[in-house]
Amino acid sequence: MNTHPLLNIQDLNIAVKHRGVNRPLVHSVDLVVRAAESVGLVGESGSGKSMTIKAAMRLLPKNASVGGSIEFDGHDVNKLGRRDLARYRSRDVALIHQDPRGHINPTRTIAQFITEGVVHTGVMDEATALERACVLMREVGISDAEKRLSQFPHQLSGGLLQRVMIVTALLPSPRLIFADEPTTALDVTVQSDVMAILMEKIRDQHAAMLFVTHDLDLAAAVTDRLAVMYAGTIVETGASDDICSRPLHPYTAALLRSRPSTTEVRRLTAIPGSPLSAYEVTSGCSFASRCPFAVDRCRNEVPKRRVVAGREVACHRVEEIVDQLQERVS
Ligand SMILES: Nc1ncnc2c1ncn2[C@@H]1O[C@H](COP(=O)(O)OP(=O)(O)OP(=O)(O)O)[C@@H](O)[C@H]1O
Ligand SMILES: [Mg+2]
Repeated sequence: MNTHPLLNIQDLNIAVKHRGVNRPLVHSVDLVVRAAESVGLVGESGSGKSMTIKAAMRLLPKNASVGGSIEFDGHDVNKLGRRDLARYRSRDVALIHQDPRGHINPTRTIAQFITEGVVHTGVMDEATALERACVLMREVGISDAEKRLSQFPHQLSGGLLQRVMIVTALLPSPRLIFADEPTTALDVTVQSDVMAILMEKIRDQHAAMLFVTHDLDLAAAVTDRLAVMYAGTIVETGASDDICSRPLHPYTAALLRSRPSTTEVRRLTAIPGSPLSAYEVTSGCSFASRCPFAVDRCRNEVPKRRVVAGREVACHRVEEIVDQLQERVS
């Protein structure tokens, strides 16, 4: 595998102004995606996954301030001029939103939605874009492609709209696709179908993917590496298989224990307490208030990410608790 970082996020910090006060939402995030690599960004609702992706595409709301560095192929994304930024967003990277209906202009046709980015930035002319769109639409399971192109978003089901999103993302053959919960809005029956199609196309195009989800099993099944996010920061990163078979962070272990099993019926162990946002963490480790292993040090001192067993993990007590974590998961 090519080891050159395509997306290189270092020490990302995002805060938003709320009633005159700066609220941190994401802090100290390091995240690398290499060419043709699939990386999963996993965490509960509100942990900062979408914010991280928005920062990487420079799509954060106006009230957000951002620190740290975000490079794509060696270029500082925050320093791109207007034209380069438009090209970056419509040719180098693509975003599949978690809620298609919220991101499709209801007054424009499907054809306009799919093609406007690439045509506007000169990546391809309209005729080529439409021709390629038809081919991709058939490949992702949209029948009657020509008819669909002339329709409006309200005439399509959620599943079809999500496929339209995927076609739009794939059209310029981007080098990196940000897939933000690309199947969560769909019926369970079509979720795995759409995911399989997306993965197949990403492999065909040799694209890299940053896959955002709260579903650790799904992420592990479709990615090479995982980054587990909690309260705005990354608590563990490593090879997907390793993380699922031997979690090193208590939050990762808790996520693994709280997932439903498809092969046995058992009571799930919910993670006690509720997920926090970064601004709700007062001191120490962000997971301490919910962690069964927390001691005073965890409540007082922020754990630094460090390399343990070939992985990066932010926990003071990894070495002491790793065997107990293993027992809890198996
Ligand atoms: N525009 C905004 N202004 C202020 N706070 C925001 C804004 N957008 C998101 N937040 C807050 O930022 C935090 C992180 O949000 P984010 O959307 O990144 O979470 P997420 O991990 O993607 O969650 P989900 O799984 O629900 O999509 C949350 O506490 C959220 O309430
Ligand atoms: Mg989100």
